[in-house]
Amino acid sequence: MAVLVTGGAGYIGSHMVWRMLDQGEDVVVLDRLSTGFDWAVPAEAELILGDIADQALVEETIARRGIDAIIHFAGSIVVPDSVADPLGYYLNNTVKSRALIESAVRCGVPHFIFSSTAAVYGTPETSPVAEGAALQPESPYGTSKLMTEIMLRDAAAAHDLAYTVLRYFNVAGADPGLRTGQSTKGATHLIKVAAEAATGKRAGMDVFGTDYPTPDGTCIRDYIHVSDLADAHAAALARLRAGGASITANCGYGKGYSVLEVIDAVKRVTGRDFEIRLGERRAGDAVSIVADPALAKAEFGWRPRFDDLDTIVSHAVRWEEHLRVANSGKA
Ligand SMILES: NC(=O)c1ccc[n+]([C@@H]2O[C@H](COP(=O)([O-])OP(=O)(O)OC[C@H]3O[C@@H](n4cnc5c(N)ncnc54)[C@H](O)[C@@H]3O)[C@@H](O)[C@H]2O)c1
Repeated sequence: MAVLVTGGAGYIGSHMVWRMLDQGEDVVVLDRLSTGFDWAVPAEAELILGDIADQALVEETIARRGIDAIIHFAGSIVVPDSVADPLGYYLNNTVKSRALIESAVRCGVPHFIFSSTAAVYGTPETSPVAEGAALQPESPYGTSKLMTEIMLRDAAAAHDLAYTVLRYFNVAGADPGLRTGQSTKGATHLIKVAAEAATGKRAGMDVFGTDYPTPDGTCIRDYIHVSDLADAHAAALARLRAGGASITANCGYGKGYSVLEVIDAVKRVTGRDFEIRLGERRAGDAVSIVADPALAKAEFGWRPRFDDLDTIVSHAVRWEEHLRVANSGKA
């Protein structure tokens, strides 16, 4: 019995691979390394270089390794890119996910966990937002994920497959032991960008919009530590293996921080100042997106361990320092 982690060479997937190995699972990673790194995959896991839509490869792997669960992280994740290239996003996130789900069904894989996103809610009508809220994605990225949620629901109704969809809010931080972290080039995630500014990797940073109807005028988001997110997947997998029914659940803490609060935390934790350029709003940014995490806590018994902004920031900054030292060694 083994677990297939698609996108396991990427940011969140590599944390999941470590999380699975830590609990003694056999792990197989399938990744085409479009944004991931082979060095992010621990030697204890088998790394298969390939595409999730290569059904011959996927089905051979499922049979050869006795896969009982697929945890599907592989995808394209940059919202503005999805606006510029919607068909590319529908291909990679929706069409190729369909092929993967079909392979799972054909091979009788009983459990499937899918990385979805708070972007399926668009601008939520309520904050915190619960799973039953209206689904009105505002980008091709969000729509591409919602369509995969729907395919999974319908495939599970027709076949012997149970799934968990996890809708992530803003994922940040790094493995506390620095075994992996966010290494994406040109990342746009706020905490990563601020950590790069604090470690001198970039000259200051921009803040997009200071006139939102929030206490300090900047947007509010719910930041979840990547290791807590991996724990939520592990708990979801245990629940599915115990016979749990298919479910869709938010993964966030239920607490929001503004852009300026996050930047202050990075400056406070590092003791370093850096330039902040206050600019205009960016198209498509919702004012506030905060999770109601009650369902994941009740259904999976998920208990976050790093629910603290300064802890998330300090792990992100330590990873950035680690990357800086590793890269200077290569120069
Ligand atoms: N990072 C976040 O804040 C966030 C928030 C919500 C949802 N998500 C979802 O979580 C998942 C993982 O995100 P991440 O931040 O780790 O991104 P990432 O870019 O670091 O990882 C994605 C991985 O998938 C691989 N990949 C992409 N397309 C592939 C394909 N067709 N076949 C094989 N491999 C492929 C890439 O090489 C990469 O290793 C994504 O599905 C994303 O939509 C992320």
